[in-house]
Amino acid sequence: MSTVRATKPIEGQKPGTSGLRKKTRVFAAPGYLENFVQAIFDAIGGGEGKTFVLGGDGRYFSDRAAQVILKMAAANGAARVIVGQNAVLSTPAASHLIRLNKTDGGFIMSASHNPGGPDEDFGLKFNAANGGPAPEALTDAMFAVTKTISEYRIVDAPDVDIATVGETTLGSMRVRVVDCVADYAALMETLFDFKALRTLFAGGFRMRMDSMNAVTGPYAREILENRLGAPKGTVTHAVPLPDFGGMHPDPNPVWAHELMDEMFGASGPDFGAASDGDGDRNMVVGRGIYVSPSDSLAVLAANAHLAPGYKTGLKGIARSMPTSAAADRVAAKLGLASYETPTGWKFFGNLLDAGRATICGEESFGTGSDHVREKDGLWAILLWLNILAERKETVEEIMNAHWRAYGRNYYSRHDYDALPVEVAERVMGGLRAALGSLPGRKVQGMTVAHADDFAYNDPVDGSVSKGQGLRVSFTDGSRLVLRLSGTGTEGATLRLYLERCAAGPEGLTEDVQAALAPVIAAAEELAGIRAITGRERPDVVT
Ligand code: G1P
Ligand code: ZN
Repeated sequence: MSTVRATKPIEGQKPGTSGLRKKTRVFAAPGYLENFVQAIFDAIGGGEGKTFVLGGDGRYFSDRAAQVILKMAAANGAARVIVGQNAVLSTPAASHLIRLNKTDGGFIMSASHNPGGPDEDFGLKFNAANGGPAPEALTDAMFAVTKTISEYRIVDAPDVDIATVGETTLGSMRVRVVDCVADYAALMETLFDFKALRTLFAGGFRMRMDSMNAVTGPYAREILENRLGAPKGTVTHAVPLPDFGGMHPDPNPVWAHELMDEMFGASGPDFGAASDGDGDRNMVVGRGIYVSPSDSLAVLAANAHLAPGYKTGLKGIARSMPTSAAADRVAAKLGLASYETPTGWKFFGNLLDAGRATICGEESFGTGSDHVREKDGLWAILLWLNILAERKETVEEIMNAHWRAYGRNYYSRHDYDALPVEVAERVMGGLRAALGSLPGRKVQGMTVAHADDFAYNDPVDGSVSKGQGLRVSFTDGSRLVLRLSGTGTEGATLRLYLERCAAGPEGLTEDVQAALAPVIAAAEELAGIRAITGRERPDVVT
C-alpha cells in the first residue's frame, strides 16, 4: 500500500561535494531521511519505471535507511532496485553496477572516511546514470526541493529480505539482491594482469592491506587472497563493522598509523595499502617510504600502460586544483592533455564521459580511471601491484626513478578542523581581499606569480564553477592553496595545501615539512591562519 505523508521543509539539507552528510542522529530523526530521499526523486523527475542501485559502506543506520529507500522507491513507481547483499556496496562497486546494468542511477549510503556509529556520521548521495556523483545542477535541484517539499511517498510493507542473494518483490517493484564483490572483481580481471600478480605473490612478495574495518574487507580478501593467492592475513581489519570498530576509516598516515608503523618497521612487507569507509580512497606505502597521493597519481599515469587495461595509453590526465602538479609533468612529457578541476570527483565525470581523460586523481587519497565514475581505492592498489610486478623494482626504486625523470613536487596538506564558521571565513576573506595586490610581491624570498580565486570552465559542457579555492603561485613553481571543506559535519574545516618543486629526488631535505617551510611561512604571512584562529598547529597534516 503506497502512502503519501505530509512533511515540511528541513533546514540545511544541502548536498555537499559528496552528497548529504550529517550526524547519524540527525539523519535518523523522524522524517529527515524521507524528506531528502523524496527530494532526490522529485529532482530527477520522479521514479516511475526507473531502475536504481542501492548500497553503502555498511555503517550504522544503513540497514534502516536501506529499507526506507526501498519502500520509497516502490512508492515512487520504480521498476527495479539492485541492492548489494545486506545493503553493502563499495562506492566504486556501486558506480560499476549502475553502468553495467544501465540503470537510472543509484543511492549510496556512506559518509566516506568519516567515523560511523550512533554518535558519528551518516550520509546519502545519489549517483547519476553515468555512475558518477550527481552534477551540481542536480544537487542544486535537490536542495531546492528540500525547501518546498510538502509530502513524501512510502509503501507500508514489511522489510525486504536483503540478506539473501536473489530476486524478490516489494509491491510491484522488483528487488534483486546481488553479491557485493562478484561484478566488481570481474571488472578488475579485465583491467589487470591477474596471472602476473599471482606469480608476484607466489614468488614471496609480501603485502599488507588495511581495510580499516570498512567496506573493502570482502573485496580485498576475495581479490588479493582468494584470486591472487596472497597469504591469508594479508588483508587486516577485513570485516566491515557498523562503527568501523571505532577506527577512523581514513587512509592517511595519521589514521592508518598501524600500517605506517609496520611499513617503517624492521622487516616491513614489500607493499602496504589502505582504503577508506566506502572504498573509494587509497593510501599506498612502500617499505620505509610513503607515497603522497599526488605522487601516486603521477606514477600511475606514467606507468599505466604496463597494465592490460591501459596498454594503448591514456587519453589525458586530470587532477583537482589543490593536487600537486606532479601529474602535469607526466602529461607534458607524454604529450597528453592535462586538466585542472575543482575539488570533488564529480568534476571529472564530463572529462571521462567525453573521452578526454583516462586517469584522474586528487591529493585527498583519491585515484581512479574511466572504468567507473568514482575514485577507486582497490583499483589504484591493483594498478600499483601490476606496475610492481612488471617493473620488478621496489616502491622506493620506482619513486626515485620517477623523480629523476620528472622532478619532484614536495607536497603537504594542513587541516584545521571544527573552526567556528565565522573564524574560518575571516581567514578566507582576508586572503581573498588581498589576491589582487599579490602578483609581483616578494613573500619569504619568493615572488608571487599569480593569485586568484579558482574558477573552472568545464571544457565539455561550458559550465562555470566559481569560488573553488584561493591559490597563490610563485615564480619558482611553489604554490599554496586555501579552501574550506565541503564535507565536514562540525563547524568549518580550513584546508591549506602546500607545494614546492625540486629538479630531482635529492633536491631538498627528506623531511617534507622542512622542505616546505618557506611556503608554510608564506601562507602564515599572507593568510594569518595561526594569528586569526589562535590555533598553534594544524589538526591533521598529510
Ligand atoms: C574532501 C576532499 C576532496 C574529496 C572529497 C570527497 O572534500 O578534499 O578531494 O573529493 O572529500 O571524498 P572537502 O572536505 O575538501 O570538500
Ligand atoms: Zn570515500
